[in-house]
Amino acid sequence: MPEEFIRYLPDEQSTVILGGRLSSLHGLILLYGELGAGKTTLVRGFLRTLGYRGVVRSPTYTLIESYELSGRRVLHLDIYRLSNPDELDCLGIREQQSRDSTLLVEWPERARSALGIPDAEVFIHYNGVARKVLVRGLSKPAASIVKLLSDKK
Ligand SMILES: Nc1ncnc2c1ncn2[C@@H]1O[C@H](COP(=O)(O)OP(=O)(O)O)[C@@H](O)[C@H]1O
Ligand SMILES: [Mg+2]
Repeated sequence: MPEEFIRYLPDEQSTVILGGRLSSLHGLILLYGELGAGKTTLVRGFLRTLGYRGVVRSPTYTLIESYELSGRRVLHLDIYRLSNPDELDCLGIREQQSRDSTLLVEWPERARSALGIPDAEVFIHYNGVARKVLVRGLSKPAASIVKLLSDKK
């Protein structure tokens, strides 16, 4: 059974904190939301909590940034500029997935079928003023983590 929760994100810091809490999720994590919704900010919190201290660059032009952190490999993708889902193969995503990496993908709707079945989905709704996030755990391990986080408040 999928598990989900909704939270308001009143400021940037709350997005960073939520990203940090989500860092116990593994596998394929899809990040939905308009430009400026806070997807990259969330990834920054995720990486910080895993001990990354450097600058988190938006992979808008590089499409992919990879991080080796405390025994985990984390890939951050922004595929907004992908013109063809087949281009994903050039990035070696599948090979990375088989090596147990965690993938955080901004604009997954650009290559939905090429990405495979997600473990978790994050939808950030932004109307220009307020931000609200829905976090959904789909795989069994992701669902139990999401349930834990939603109980915690
Ligand atoms: N919850 C929030 N409240 C206010 N501003 C936010 C929040 N989350 C992120 N921001 C700000 O919104 C801007 C865009 O965020 P970014 O993470 O780059 O968006 P995206 O990757 O979705 O395009 C940044 O300046 C960031 O500081
Ligand atoms: Mg971004």
